[in-house]
Amino acid sequence: MKLFYALASPFVRKCLVAAHELGLRDRIELVSAVPSPVNRDANVVAHNPLGKIPTLITADGVTLYDSRVICEFLDDLGGRRLLPAAGPRRWSVLVDQSLADGIMDAAVLGRYETFARPEALRWDAWLTGQFAKVDSSLNEFERRAAALGDRIDVGTIALGAALGYLDFRYASLAWRDRHPLLAQWFETFGARDSMKATSPFTA
Ligand code: BEZ
Repeated sequence: MKLFYALASPFVRKCLVAAHELGLRDRIELVSAVPSPVNRDANVVAHNPLGKIPTLITADGVTLYDSRVICEFLDDLGGRRLLPAAGPRRWSVLVDQSLADGIMDAAVLGRYETFARPEALRWDAWLTGQFAKVDSSLNEFERRAAALGDRIDVGTIALGAALGYLDFRYASLAWRDRHPLLAQWFETFGARDSMKATSPFTA
């Protein structure tokens, strides 16, 4: 399998953590992609018209995107351990994944706003709105941090990738100060081999 990737992308990290946890990492060849919202990477566009990463080419030559589809495919291949097949737990894991993906979406859009958009075109209120989304979503995870326990699934993996991205790009946000239970959970989750092996700080 080939994965179009950039080390800084939290959505790529989510897929790679899932691959690690499922014992599939060795089966994935990483193909470097240029992550730009403006000048899209033609090599990625050739496989995914959205030009977004992560994009996975399976061993059968099938192209998969986005991170949710890729994680579900990897989970199928690796023995279905990251997403309950049915029942209330399935829906709560999927909602956790959506909430964590939303944190990543807002944080990445914030990053584009401050680093990719020309200064004259920036809109502070829009940026504030993205960070309000991050903050209220972190509040929700803080509220149920105790229930996260030692779960390893697509919900907690997405959350780990989201918190890791906040540490990477927004250290000044100091999210731990306002979310101590979540910080405690991330202390343990972030120390997993899968998280250490995919850290953007290693670049
Ligand atoms: C970043 O540099 O923050 C970034 C790179 C790729 C995708 C998303 C974010």
